[in-house]
Amino acid sequence: MTERTLILVKPDGVERGMSGQILARIEAKGYTLVAVELRTASAELLAQHYEEHVGKPFYESLVEFMVSGPVLAVVAEGDRVIEGFRSLAGATDPTVAAPGTIRGDLGRQWPTKVIQNLVHGSDSPDSAAREIGIWFPSL
Ligand code: CMP
Repeated sequence: MTERTLILVKPDGVERGMSGQILARIEAKGYTLVAVELRTASAELLAQHYEEHVGKPFYESLVEFMVSGPVLAVVAEGDRVIEGFRSLAGATDPTVAAPGTIRGDLGRQWPTKVIQNLVHGSDSPDSAAREIGIWFPSL
């Protein structure tokens, strides 16, 4: 079933010059790029995006990291792209993410309070619809 997902190349990925490689992996898997925009997120936008994490011990550090530089916001489309991109991204923690995945091949486990793991991908159709609405309200 064709669906859409919201992908973010996080500030560590943009800063390390990995946006192109990450987009290439998305395209190589056959997904279509519907929207791609480099932007610096506000704390307000991130509070909406990370609604489910508000109050968790890592929340403040996560927002601080996510506003520390530009992110590449992407909407990708394709058959089961939500599940497919999460498989492409690999496990949340780059230390244990499998080789062959974005986080497994390109991620580093930085000694910070927050996991800097290069990318975000929506985790369900409901999250995808919600997150696309936050980042790209005109889509
Ligand atoms: P993401 O997929 O964007 O969703 C929430 C983010 O919070 C996650 O990627 C990580 O960057 C970060 N995160 C998740 N769990 C932890 C944790 N236990 N400690 C620190 N950061 C975390």
